Amino acid sequence: MSATIKITSASHHETIHIGRILGMIIKKGDVICLYGDLGAGKTTLIKGVATGFGIPEREITSASFTIISEYESEIPFYHIDLYRLNDLSSVEDLGIHEYLSDDGITVIEWAERLKGSIDCTVKIEIKYLNENIREIIIGGIDEKDWNNNQVDRERLS
Ligand SMILES: Nc1ncnc2c1ncn2[C@@H]1O[C@H](COP(=O)(O)OP(=O)(O)OP(=O)(O)O)[C@@H](O)[C@H]1O
Ligand SMILES: [Mg+2]
Repeated sequence: MSATIKITSASHHETIHIGRILGMIIKKGDVICLYGDLGAGKTTLIKGVATGFGIPEREITSASFTIISEYESEIPFYHIDLYRLNDLSSVEDLGIHEYLSDDGITVIEWAERLKGSIDCTVKIEIKYLNENIREIIIGGIDEKDWNNNQVDRERLS
């Protein structure tokens, strides 16, 4: 059974750390959909997730014209940012399904802009509370995975 949890982040760095911990819990094949206003902290959280896979924070950037970025890491890591998505684009036009492989991790910003369905295994909403405070609501992670004590603690340091 999956549990929804709410975490309050008090700074940019705290969101990075929360992302890193999340990166230890997610699994191959997960599709993580992020929702939240401009500047909420979606890319910041993804930077944290990426560091957990050995991808340097600075390599994860906000989309300018690139909609899909692929990173070489322990397992394929795809960052999809749909902010600039043209109204006419659909899941099929973008070939998004080709990225939703069983052997990688896919994170999608502005997932609500997609026309067509996609199976998000994890859904994350980030709410702006004030300049530095954010509420991060994570749904879809299995309770047993939150409790997983096999997590490699070395990666927390
Ligand atoms: N607690 C916090 N968590 C995340 N970011 C924070 C926090 N406090 C301040 N910030 C700042 O808020 C901004 C978040 O920007 P970010 O690019 O991550 O947002 P985004 O949701 O991806 O926006 P966009 O929709 O434009 O892609 C950064 O400048 C970051 O430093
Ligand atoms: Mg962003």
